[in-house]
Amino acid sequence: MQYDFDQIIDRRNSCCFKYDALKMLYGREDLVSLWVADMDFAVAPGIQEALQNRLDHGVFGYNYRLDDYYHAILSWIQRRYGWQAEQDWIIDTPGVVPALNLAVLTLTRPEDKILIQPPVYRPFFNVITDHKRSLITNTLKLENGVYQLDREDFERKIRQASLFILCNPHNPVGRVWQREELEFMAELCKRYDVPIMSDEIHCDLVYPEHEFCSMGSLKEYQDLVIVSFSPAKSFNLAGLGASVTIIPNPRLRKAVNDLNQYMHLFTGNAFGIEALKTAYSIGDDWLDALIAYLDGNRQYLAEYIAAELPELSMIYPEGTFLAWINFAKLGMDDNALFDFLTNKARVALDPGRKYGVDGSGFSRLNFACPRSILEEAMDRLHKAIKENFR
Ligand SMILES: Cc1ncc(COP(=O)(O)O)c(C=O)c1O
Repeated sequence: MQYDFDQIIDRRNSCCFKYDALKMLYGREDLVSLWVADMDFAVAPGIQEALQNRLDHGVFGYNYRLDDYYHAILSWIQRRYGWQAEQDWIIDTPGVVPALNLAVLTLTRPEDKILIQPPVYRPFFNVITDHKRSLITNTLKLENGVYQLDREDFERKIRQASLFILCNPHNPVGRVWQREELEFMAELCKRYDVPIMSDEIHCDLVYPEHEFCSMGSLKEYQDLVIVSFSPAKSFNLAGLGASVTIIPNPRLRKAVNDLNQYMHLFTGNAFGIEALKTAYSIGDDWLDALIAYLDGNRQYLAEYIAAELPELSMIYPEGTFLAWINFAKLGMDDNALFDFLTNKARVALDPGRKYGVDGSGFSRLNFACPRSILEEAMDRLHKAIKENFR
């Protein structure tokens, strides 16, 4: 079946962070909005239909997830990633960031050191510092346009850590960590007895030349691992607050789930439950079509930047719908770059500095939109660079 990813849907005035918060965040509304990580596409027709049926039922009391919900999750990760997990290992969490918070709160104490790999998604910093834990960093190394793991530094840092938070695929640099790289990290975590919180929210969005490997699927290390993921990114369901956390080790699972239970975070909402179940049951075909469309956008962007904007360089993502773009050659500090992009080019990108000091000079561009929107953004950027820098 063909799906129409070119269709423009007006998202303004729908309580939509990406468009309705532009004035608050960027000071103006006339921007091509390519910042926060959701998509401008309608959900798969089967999901919309399932939600409509749920709506038509008309009763929205407290929820209870039936076996078919868990079977949908287990079947999805088995058929797409070859990961054989068990129903008992699943914890119902309202989002991946809440799951990160639960792991930090239950598996570490104030002052404990937690390792992350910047440049990385801003909440990775916040979940550590907000709970008065100490941040330690294993900064990724940019080598020939690809971010690499700094293995020596990892080995030095991990022995001090009480928890390691991994991002796979990695937001914002788009790396899809290879099995060998995961094994290297997991082996050291095992040696030093450090649990791994693996944020795999972007796992469904991997381009054909790469293969996603879940930390949870590495049998030898599964006792160390907490994996959190959801259909929020891949099926555009971020507003429905549904996610899955899988913890094979009963001791870690009890610790994390006790707090989840005390705080009633497991309850979920009726639409999130229905959408997650449907996405993982019938979403393969739509997701494959989406990845093909995003791949086209990824190539368009890379080719446009190479041909028309030699001042910039783009990290070619292996997964995610995020392009990490280096603007440093334009010679602006981060404030001037933000001002230029917003007020001269009139595009809303996510400032790289949010992802740590190593993000300075970069901005993150979300290309999960109809191609024509991307073309408009590139035209604006091109024009502004020509007028101001050439
Ligand atoms: C790496 C990563 N983790 C988590 C999230 C958000 O997860 P949730 O909305 O489920 O809390 C995002 C959203 O951009 C993300 O990129």
